[in-house]
Amino acid sequence: MRIGISGLGNIGKRHLELLSALPPVDVVAAVEPRLGGDASAAGMPLSVYGAFDEMLEKASLDAVVIASPSGMHAEQGAAAAEVGVHVITEKPLATTMGAAESLVAACASRGVRLAVVHQYRFHAPLVRLKKEIDGGALGKVVFLNVSLCWRRSTAYYAENGGWRGTWKWDGGGALMNQGSHAVDLARWLVGPIATVTALTTNVVHAIEGEDTACVALEFARGGLGMLQVTTCSSENRPAVVTIEGTEGAAVVRGEQLAVNGRPVELRSEHVRQVPLGNPHRLQFEAIFDALANGERPPVAGDESRETLAATLAMYESARSGRAIRVPESRLSSSAS
Ligand SMILES: NC(=O)c1ccc[n+]([C@@H]2O[C@H](COP(=O)([O-])OP(=O)(O)OC[C@H]3O[C@@H](n4cnc5c(N)ncnc54)[C@H](O)[C@@H]3O)[C@@H](O)[C@H]2O)c1
Repeated sequence: MRIGISGLGNIGKRHLELLSALPPVDVVAAVEPRLGGDASAAGMPLSVYGAFDEMLEKASLDAVVIASPSGMHAEQGAAAAEVGVHVITEKPLATTMGAAESLVAACASRGVRLAVVHQYRFHAPLVRLKKEIDGGALGKVVFLNVSLCWRRSTAYYAENGGWRGTWKWDGGGALMNQGSHAVDLARWLVGPIATVTALTTNVVHAIEGEDTACVALEFARGGLGMLQVTTCSSENRPAVVTIEGTEGAAVVRGEQLAVNGRPVELRSEHVRQVPLGNPHRLQFEAIFDALANGERPPVAGDESRETLAATLAMYESARSGRAIRVPESRLSSSAS
């Protein structure tokens, strides 16, 4: 399968390295305006283009991995779909609902698959936590908490044209960028979100969007949740996910899972790989398996669209100071 990567920045370079070592794919091309077509600068034997359309036109791709600034995902994905190329995009799917709908529709109408990178769904302790929840071991979920307390420097927001933290290219700040992981995890672990009440602020960074957000959730099937996201911590702390249920409680802190206070040993039956696999790699393997078998890949575009809808509702809540109802999921009416 011939793959092209859009954007060789922070995550794109890591994807290039990872995908180059993955047997079913052959990374033949990339787009990186900063390299000005200099293939040697990519450090791999592949064609490097200065513009996305040029790569699509010349590289005969089967699939594209989009790791450009978030505000470009939908337009680049739709252009790829238009010429029959499968789309795997980094999160978030898009930064507006209109753009997300156009991308999902473009992929559906051209018969190509659309997958979104939400690698935490492949993180071993969270995979096991989901099994505990779905198997009923924790009873009915009372509370979910997700805490992403990370540090991002001033330079992080300034580099590569300063797109991060802008409304146009990042879709906001920490909540849209880092927080889309938390929103997706909440939906995946517990289910659809019915209403959100959000507070956002800037503690450190002078960016258009927020660097800190706190969101209260009401789940459609009952139970409440809280998301905390910041890029202002003194260091990157492990992500923490806690579930309080009517029959038990569980905590994931980084690589560790404890259920009812007891550490759980994560063995091969809970994950696809021992030692615990790289979640990005596990998701890519699952996506390429699905593409090879003509199946719906994880996490499909229409599912990620619901994560975006919930995130945008949080921004509306922060702006208006009101609880906002998340638009009803349309998952049952479309699939790609
Ligand atoms: N899943 C994750 O854990 C994760 C982690 C980091 C970033 N991301 C996502 O990946 C995307 C990129 O983030 P990043 O931190 O790597 O940013 P980055 O700025 O390091 O990389 C983006 C790259 O895209 C390039 N670029 C600019 N215009 C382009 C265009 N028209 N076509 C192709 N490339 C273009 C930039 O020059 C830059 O090198 C974002 O959407 C972000 O949300 C996801």
